[in-house]
Amino acid sequence: MIKIEAIVREEKLEDVKEALQKIEVRGLTVSQVMGCGTQMGYTERVRGSKVSINMLPKIKFEIIVSTEEWEKKTIAAIEEAARTGNVGDGKIISYEIRQAVRIRTGETGTDAIQPGVDASLDDD
Ligand SMILES: Nc1ncnc2c1ncn2[C@@H]1O[C@H](COP(=O)(O)OP(=O)(O)OP(=O)(O)O)[C@@H](O)[C@H]1O
Ligand SMILES: [Mg+2]
Repeated sequence: MIKIEAIVREEKLEDVKEALQKIEVRGLTVSQVMGCGTQMGYTERVRGSKVSINMLPKIKFEIIVSTEEWEKKTIAAIEEAARTGNVGDGKIISYEIRQAVRIRTGETGTDAIQPGVDASLDDD
């Protein structure tokens, strides 16, 4: 199992969400976060005025997938949807994860992140 984390521009939330929907990603977490990259938040912000805070609001997506094929597909979809070509477009990282548990059924591993046979579509 692989976890993909993507930090993207706030205004790209809908585009990335739609791109993930299109490839039929099954489950994701989104948070509002603050951060900075190599420019430490400055070139993107107030030009000519001194600001002490250099953390910028961003959106973080977290997605767990079962295979490398899904990892590639997911990263490609996010990359395309989130790119503007300007500094601050964000980062995508991925890494192996050890375990996942579907709390309702006790299923573990890849079973826990694939749709179950009796999964209802209306309560999550
Ligand atoms: N090394 C890092 N560690 C953790 N989070 C990071 C790192 N680099 C970037 N981020 C997160 O991604 C957001 C966007 O980063 P950003 O796109 O500015 O990266 P960058 O390396 O400076 O690339 P660019 O030159 O295109 O701006 C940051 O606000 C921060 O939340
Ligand atoms: Mg940057």
